[in-house]
This record gives sequence, structure tokens and C-alpha cells, in this order.
Amino acid sequence: MPTKIDPVSIESVKSFWDSQPLFTGESYHGAGTKEFFEDHTKTYLEDVFPGLIDERFFPRSKELSVLDLGCGIGFWTEQFCKRDYKSVTGADLSLRSLELARERIGMAGLKANFRNENAELLSFADASFDHVNCLGVVHHTPHPERAVAEIARVLKPGASATISVYYRNILLRNFSKLKGVFLLLSKFGVGLKGRGRETMLAENAESEIVRLYDGSDNPLGIAYSRSEFEVILKQHYKVEEVFYHFFPKRALWHDMPRSLHRLLDQKLLFMICFRLKKL
Ligand SMILES: C[S@@+](CC[C@H](N)C(=O)[O-])C[C@H]1O[C@@H](n2cnc3c(N)ncnc32)[C@H](O)[C@@H]1O
Repeated sequence: MPTKIDPVSIESVKSFWDSQPLFTGESYHGAGTKEFFEDHTKTYLEDVFPGLIDERFFPRSKELSVLDLGCGIGFWTEQFCKRDYKSVTGADLSLRSLELARERIGMAGLKANFRNENAELLSFADASFDHVNCLGVVHHTPHPERAVAEIARVLKPGASATISVYYRNILLRNFSKLKGVFLLLSKFGVGLKGRGRETMLAENAESEIVRLYDGSDNPLGIAYSRSEFEVILKQHYKVEEVFYHFFPKRALWHDMPRSLHRLLDQKLLFMICFRLKKL
């Protein structure tokens, strides 16, 4: 099971993401500038994905109302808008993140709706959406199982969702044995820049490394094995496909050859994605 963590309030989660929306404190560009959003898109395309976004994130039919839940600064909202889905709504707990997402979509000349929402208690009516995209969000909320249930509630019968969470991969599962290696890597400067994460690999606990990935002030980050998260999903969804990705090369070696990045992205992945159908 994931390490037990002291209860964290939804207010502290909101306050963290309001003060440090995704990618702020990491990019050299001012939050909300065109350069900031371009830098973020480039980082997603070159780091989160080794060159190409996996098209499994996008349902085939375009006649869908899509909710991008926990949209952050709007990377996925923009991608769904660009792919011409019938309607796209970005929602997030953090008002500052939403503001940035709205600016991003405006600058790109696209259209989306935006809502300030807590995934654990959504204000949308039952059966409001055809697809919910919720990537890298529920592992930050104090009650992930409530968010998972709420997503199912706002989906139409038989509709789809993609939910991703941090994956307890082989490195995290064997953290205690590999602690010395992590420490050595940290001494050689391996770690993410900005948001107080530079020495994250020198931490003593696996759960701390996961939490620190989003910043030293991040109150909550949980990594799951496949079976642990499937337990939460199974009362609401049929799992149609599980796929993994994400090796953050920028923590290790910025100019890593793409072929090596692809290999690490397949073998040492940090995100687990579930393509789901509402039961
Ligand atoms: C790591 S970011 C991911 C953003 C975006 N999904 C992406 O992949 O680029 C996590 C986001 O989840 C949001 N979040 C955390 N808990 C939430 C909740 N209970 N309800 C809605 N959003 C939440 C945060 O405000 C933050 O913007």
C-alpha cells in the first residue's frame, strides 16, 4: 500500500497550487507570458513525452463534451481544443492556475469554458460529460477515492475517462535498497530545478521523493501500484486499457538522445494511465 501520510486539508492543497501553479518557478519566463506557455508546451512534448503525445489520451469521436479536470495551466485543455472536440471545459481547484489556463487558451485563439472546482465535490450535474481527462491530479487531493467517484457521477452512462497517477515503479518500490544510488546521483546534481526540488533525491523516504516532485512546499503527492489504484477505480469503471509513461529526462540529462529517452520512458516510467469506461 502507499505510505500512510498525515491528513492534508484541501485548503492547503489549494493554497500550494495557487502560490505555485504548475511550471511556475521552473521556467525562466514570467508566468502568463507567451514564452512561458511555449516553454511549457515544449517541456511536455520533449520531456513528458519523448517527442510525440500519445494519442491514446484523445477519444476518437470528436462529438464529445470534454472535462479537463485539474487542468492546471491548461496544457491538456489546449490540446483538446486544438483537436476540435464539441466542447471543452477546464476545471481546477486553484484560481491562479485557472487564470493562467484561460490566458493560454485566449492567446492560442481557442475557446474553452473554465470552472473553479474541487474534484472531490464537483458542482456539475450528474451525467454532464462524454469524457473526463484527469491527468496527474487525484494523487494530489486528500481523498482520491472521492474524486474518482465524482468523475464517474458527472459522466454520462457508458462515457469514458482517462485518469493518471504517479506510478510506484521499480525505482520507488526498491527505494530503501537504492537509497545510496539516489544520494550519489543527488551529489552529482541530478534532480529537478526550481520549486525547491534540487536535492529531492537526497531524501530518506520514497513518499518524500514523490511529494517533492511538484515542489518542496507541495502538501501531498502519492504514488500507486496498478492494483492499488484499480481497487479505487473498480466500483465505478471498467478498465479498458492501462498504459505507462514518463521519464523526466530533464532531471537527469537535458540533451539525452531521444532514443535513450524513449527507452527510459518505456522501462522506468513514473505515470500510470487508466483508460476507463463508466459502468
Ligand atoms: C500536477 S498539476 C497537473 C495539471 C494538468 N492536469 C497537467 O497534466 O498539466 C495538478 C493540478 O491538480 C489541481 N488539483 C489538485 N487537487 C485538486 C482538486 N481536489 N480538485 C481540482 N483540482 C485539483 C492542482 O490545482 C493542479 O493544478
